[in-house]
Amino acid sequence: MSRDRHWLLASDLDGTLTGDPSGLEALLNWFKPRREQWLLAYVTGRGWDSMWELIREASLPVPVALITDVGTAVHLPRVPVPAVPDHFRLDHEWAGLLQRQWPVAEAEQLVERIPGVFPQPGIRATMRRSYHVAGPEVAAQVWMALDSARLPVRIVLSSGRDLDLMPAFAGKGAALRYLTGRLGVLPWRVIACGDSGNDLDMLEAGMAGVVVGNAQPELHGAALPACVYRANAPHAWGILEGLQWWESVAAGRSF
Ligand code: GLC
Ligand code: MG
Repeated sequence: MSRDRHWLLASDLDGTLTGDPSGLEALLNWFKPRREQWLLAYVTGRGWDSMWELIREASLPVPVALITDVGTAVHLPRVPVPAVPDHFRLDHEWAGLLQRQWPVAEAEQLVERIPGVFPQPGIRATMRRSYHVAGPEVAAQVWMALDSARLPVRIVLSSGRDLDLMPAFAGKGAALRYLTGRLGVLPWRVIACGDSGNDLDMLEAGMAGVVVGNAQPELHGAALPACVYRANAPHAWGILEGLQWWESVAAGRSF
C-alpha cells in the first residue's frame, strides 16, 4: 500500500500526546481539515493492554499503526478491517528480525545481578525487559556489564529511572523506519514527536521531529539534528507548535 503523498505524525503517548487535554483537542482540530494528507501512528513504551487503557482513558483517536514496547513490537491493520483493537495484528516480520539475536536469558542474568536494578512489575513483553534503576550511575554499570559480555543488546534510559533492555537493533527509531517502509510513507514525510530518552533514537534517525516543551532533561541535553524542532509549549500543544513551524517552513520554501 503506497502512501507516498501522505505525511505521518508518529507520536509518543505519555508526556507527549497526552498530559494536556486542551492541547490534544487543539491538535485534533488542526488535523480535521487535513485528514486526507495526514496519517497518525503511536510509538510508545507501553505494552499492548496498558496502551489501550491510555487510548481509551484519554479518548485518543485510533491510529493507522502502532509501535509498542519501546520499539520491540509493531502492529499493523488487518485486511479486511475488523473493529478495534482486533483491527491490528502483531507484525511477525519485525518480531522475527529482532528474535534472530536476542540473548535474553544471559542479558537478564547480568543486569539483575547489579544492585539498584529492579524489574518493573507487570511487564509481559517477550522482546524487552524493563527495569527501574536507582539512578544514571546504575544505568552506567548495566551498560558496562553488557559491554564486557559483548552481548548484542541495547539499553535505553528514560526519565532518569526507566531502563529498557532489548535486542541491539530494536528501539523506537528502528521500528519507526521499518513501519514507514511498511506503510509506504516517504521517510522525509514523517514527523516524530517525543519527550523522553526512549524517543531519542527516533529523533536522531534523520526524520523530522518535535521535542515537546516539557521534555525530560535527557532530551534537553541531547544534540539533535537540525530537522528536529524544539517546541516551547508542552504536550500536544508542543506538537501543534512544531507542526505549525513545519507548515510555515513548507509554505515559504523556494524550491
Ligand atoms: C513506559 C513503559 C515502561 C518503559 C518506559 C520507558 O512507561 O510502561 O515499561 O520502561 O515507557 O521506555
Ligand atoms: Mg513519553
